[in-house]
Amino acid sequence: MAILVTGGAGYIGSHTAIELIQAGYEVVIVDDYSNSKPAVIDRIEELSGKRPAFHEVNICDKDKLREVFEAHELEAVIHFAGFKAVGESVLEPLKYYNNNLNGTIVLMELMNAFDVKNIVFSSSATVYGMNNTAPFTEDMPLSTTNPYGTTKLFIEQFIKDQAAADKDWSAALLRYFNPIGAHQSGRIGEDPNDIPNNLMPYITQVAVGKREQLSVFGSDYDTPDGTGVRDYIHVVDLAKGHLLALENVLKTTGVEPYNLGTGVGYSVLDVVKAFEKANDVAIPYQLVERRPGDIGTSYADATKAKAELGWETEFSLEDMCRDSWNWQKSNPNGYA
Ligand code: UD1
Repeated sequence: MAILVTGGAGYIGSHTAIELIQAGYEVVIVDDYSNSKPAVIDRIEELSGKRPAFHEVNICDKDKLREVFEAHELEAVIHFAGFKAVGESVLEPLKYYNNNLNGTIVLMELMNAFDVKNIVFSSSATVYGMNNTAPFTEDMPLSTTNPYGTTKLFIEQFIKDQAAADKDWSAALLRYFNPIGAHQSGRIGEDPNDIPNNLMPYITQVAVGKREQLSVFGSDYDTPDGTGVRDYIHVVDLAKGHLLALENVLKTTGVEPYNLGTGVGYSVLDVVKAFEKANDVAIPYQLVERRPGDIGTSYADATKAKAELGWETEFSLEDMCRDSWNWQKSNPNGYA
């Protein structure tokens, strides 16, 4: 029996594939390389000692995805595949709705057809919207501020409705906080197309000399130093959370959301200072206007994942900064 990992060549998917293989699972990756590179598969093999099965497929392509279900005996799906740039989703909402929502419907229809009713879904803390106060708990009311976030919220709902209609379904909805860091080997990491939207890839590109300085979006938030506070989590801790969520999904039915965060918030300037200290490199920055749609403070109440999945984070902010930099400096142009 194998685990299908959609988007398994991506940043979080590739780290998760390694954890799965190391735990003895047979892994089948589907990815269309829209935001990843073929070299990732080689590096998963290099780091885990085993090459995962791979199919270059866009999950909206039902005929091709069906062939993957026919070729492998699957017992569960970990679903990462999806577009994830917030700003782009505002400019091209239909592209996001088409890819993320249609792709998931196609995937879930095939899961039904092949009686594969276990899923771990890559959701996001973005579903807590702008109206809740941190720490966020899983039972808070959900809303979103952009089409990317709306696709996460809708997919959570698709899965809840499907599990209500068919009691054999079992699902974990993993609400990630802010994943950063990279595999300690420095061989896989985050490799964004174009100019990075997110904080850590931007910082590492400043450190490597590709960008002149960091713009810090907003210094008048109601936070200790005025800059935005987030719950940064090491991508390897996050990947391990998927493994524990999968194990739980395989032995239960029904749907449960879980926050995957550390439970601790750091400001943008905390991250800049931690990065400079961990790596002995200067990060020039300027304070600029707030970025539309950003909230001041976001961090998890991570007690549910600990209580029900036995999951706890191990890595510190310093570890995250060290590993992000290790990846970027040994791969200044990513996988290219
Ligand atoms: C963003 C998305 C979120 C998505 C997550 C994962 C928004 C509003 N939210 O979260 O939906 O799930 O990425 O990829 O885009 N910052 C700077 N300068 C920069 C970049 C970021 O100061 O160049 C600040 C931000 O204002 C924020 C913090 O750094 O306070 C983290 O930003 P980012 O890494 O983009 O993540 P989020 O906005 O939290």
